[in-house]
Amino acid sequence: MPRITYIEHSGKEHVVDVAKGLTVMEGARDNGVPGIDADCGGACACSTCHAYIHPDWVAKLPEMDVMEEDMLDFAYETRPGLSRLTCQIKVTDALDGLIVQLPEKQI
Ligand code: FES
Repeated sequence: MPRITYIEHSGKEHVVDVAKGLTVMEGARDNGVPGIDADCGGACACSTCHAYIHPDWVAKLPEMDVMEEDMLDFAYETRPGLSRLTCQIKVTDALDGLIVQLPEKQI
């Protein structure tokens, strides 16, 4: 199972095995990682699953579509090039080792 490291704003790390086919958001939600609210349940309609992708991983992720890009405008303190909505990132073997940092708060 791909292993994902979620780093809270405080620096606390959560290393979680996430089944392929789930999203990075679901991996956090299902394992009790605080900091991702996911109010819309993954429909790309709330932006409360925002996270910063570790720079080493940005280019390895599938590109953002227009819907994600538009919704990201509503997220708290986005960082151009690093911010993504984690409900839009499907977990695959290629994402084994992914590191995401969680913002100070969601909107
Ligand atoms: Fe709502 Fe990702 S969970 S946009």
